[in-house]
Amino acid sequence: MITLGIETSCDETAVAVIEDGFTVRSNLIARQEHLHERFGGVVPEVAARAHVETLNPLLERALAHAGIGFDDLDGVAVTAGPGLVGALLVGIAAAKAIALAARVPLIGVNHLEGHIWANFIEHGPPRPPYIALVVSGGHTMLVHLPEVHRHELLGQTLDDAAGEAFDKVARLLGLGFPGGPALNALAADGDPDAIRFPRAMEDSDDLDFSMSGLKTAVLRYVRAEQAAGRELPLPDVAASFQEAIVDVQVSKTIRAAKERSVDSVLLGGGVVANTRLRERMAEDGAAAGLRVLSPSPDLCTDNAAMIAAVGAARLARGERSMLDTAADPNLRLAP
Ligand code: KG4
Ligand code: ZN
Repeated sequence: MITLGIETSCDETAVAVIEDGFTVRSNLIARQEHLHERFGGVVPEVAARAHVETLNPLLERALAHAGIGFDDLDGVAVTAGPGLVGALLVGIAAAKAIALAARVPLIGVNHLEGHIWANFIEHGPPRPPYIALVVSGGHTMLVHLPEVHRHELLGQTLDDAAGEAFDKVARLLGLGFPGGPALNALAADGDPDAIRFPRAMEDSDDLDFSMSGLKTAVLRYVRAEQAAGRELPLPDVAASFQEAIVDVQVSKTIRAAKERSVDSVLLGGGVVANTRLRERMAEDGAAAGLRVLSPSPDLCTDNAAMIAAVGAARLARGERSMLDTAADPNLRLAP
C-alpha cells in the first residue's frame, strides 16, 4: 500500500511517499527559514504563499524520487491541524485534488500525532502503552497513549512552547532564527552548571510546564551582565538555559511514566533534535528503568513521512476524511 503524505502546517513544505505504513520511499522538505528570518518569526501570510509556490514542484519530485506516479497511490494523508490556517489550507486543497483525481481515499492527520508516529517509522509498529513527550515550536505536552490512536493529555505548557523558548533566548543571544539548533550547538562548548536558572514547576504536583520565568531570568541575567560592562559568557548562558529546560522535561516525563505505570517513553517534535535532551532522557530514563525511543533528528522536525505513517494506519482501519474536510488551527489529539 502506497500512501502520499503532505505537510504544510507551518514553515516547512513537505511531501513524502511511504509504503506499507512505515517504509519511506521519499521524504522531501522545502524550508522557508530564509523568508522569515528578517521578521524574527514565522509570518503566516508569507508561509502560505511559499507553500503555494513550492508544493506542486515538490510533489512531482517526491513521486519521481519514489519512482511512482499518481496512479500508484492507495491513499493521501494531509495535516489537518494544528497549525497556521492559511498554510494548512494549501496542503489540504492539494491533497483533496489528488485524492479526487486519483480516486483514492483522503485522511486528515493531526500534526502532533505525526510527531509521535515519527518513532514508529524507525523503531517498528506501535506497542502501547506509552508516555509521549511532544516538544516543538508550538507545543509542549505530555500525553498518555493507552492504545493506538488514543490520547490522554497529562500536562502542557501554561505559556510558551519549549521550541519558542529556545528561539526567543537564541534571539536574545543574537543567534538568529530559528535559534534552537544554533543555541544547541553553542551550548556544547558551555558549562551547564555555570549559571543556576530557575526550574519552573519542576516540583509542582501537576505535569504542566511553564517557560516564561526561565526566559525572564535569562533576560535579567543578560541585562545585568551588560550593565556591569562584562562580556557575556555565551556558551555558558546557552548551556545553563538548555539544562534548565531539559531538567524539567526529563523529570516530568519520568514522573508521568511512573504515575501511569508505563515503561516506554516516546519523544517527538523539533526540540527532540536537541542533543542534550536526547542524552539526558536516555540516561535518566534508563536509570529509571524506562525504554526511551526518539526519532532520528531529521524525523523530529516537521516532515511528511510522519503524516503519511499516521494516515496509512488510520486508512487501514477504514477511516476516511470527506472532501469537505477543513483546516483546524486548534485541532486536538483524539481522546
Ligand atoms: O516540530 P517542529 O519542526 O515545528 C513545529 O511543529 O513547531 O519544531 C520546531 C522547533 C523550533 O522552535 C526549533 O528552534 C526547535 O524546534 N529545534 C530545536 C533544535 N532543533 C529544532 N530546539 C533545540 N535544540 C535543537 N537542536
Ligand atoms: Zn511540528
